[in-house]
Amino acid sequence: MRSIAVFSVKGGVGKSALAVNLAHAAATISGRRTLLWDLDAQGAATHMLRLAARPDISARKGIADGELIPLVQASDFARLDVLAADKSLRHLERQLTEDDKSKRLKKLIKSFEKDYDRVVLDCPPGLTELAEQVFRAVDLLVVPMLPSPLSMRAFDQLIEHLAKHHKSYAPALLPVFTMVDRRKTLHRDTIAAAPGRPVIPYAAAIEAMASTRLPVLAKAPGSPAARAFSVLWTDVERTLAKRG
Ligand SMILES: Nc1ncnc2c1ncn2[C@@H]1O[C@H](COP(=O)(O)OP(=O)(O)OP(=O)(O)O)[C@@H](O)[C@H]1O
Ligand SMILES: [Mg+2]
Repeated sequence: MRSIAVFSVKGGVGKSALAVNLAHAAATISGRRTLLWDLDAQGAATHMLRLAARPDISARKGIADGELIPLVQASDFARLDVLAADKSLRHLERQLTEDDKSKRLKKLIKSFEKDYDRVVLDCPPGLTELAEQVFRAVDLLVVPMLPSPLSMRAFDQLIEHLAKHHKSYAPALLPVFTMVDRRKTLHRDTIAAAPGRPVIPYAAAIEAMASTRLPVLAKAPGSPAARAFSVLWTDVERTLAKRG
């Protein structure tokens, strides 16, 4: 089992869109038994896969009790399951801060080992206690960023943070340019300065996911956006394989 977190300090950079499409690609392109874990109380990833939190269940309590498997829901896609987000996750940060178990998340991810091949986490933005636990737990961080110098700077700061505070263990990093508009000089120049870095275009098909509530590879498989996600998924698998 390998775990992948879609993470960024910044909000609104396309994390949830990436998490949904990567999890879908894991299940459909690679045939992996995949769990998408929505850790953001907003529940955007859950919504985009046509699911909702069950009213009788608290995701935060499931995390506290270490009992998450009963909370898993099947998606409309074979091999793709979802741990839905709900509003209780708004209090997750406080709980994790008060709790003295700095590896709680790591332990929970390990508990998925026999049921899943890939676990994809959709994280809320920010360098929070949850983020620190994610850094201790996952194999790979996929970090979406807008093609701008400030986003590049934020990524450098993340590398520094990991080098300083996560010396004994840090996940592999895969930075990804998102919402790329090649008509913009700034976008073209920023991408040219980081050759080989994966690129997800600014695309109506991705923007529409909130209303279609379908991954792009399911709704528009021949589109440039779908191809970009499929190439990115290959990069993810290659990065995981290199890490061993
Ligand atoms: N490549 C893209 N092209 C066009 N629109 C996009 C793209 N990626 C994301 N969007 C749109 O941008 C908005 C933000 O995307 P998303 O919710 O995935 O970001 P996020 O980083 O998860 O945000 P948050 O920090 O609030 O969790 C959404 O309306 C989404 O549909
Ligand atoms: Mg999000």
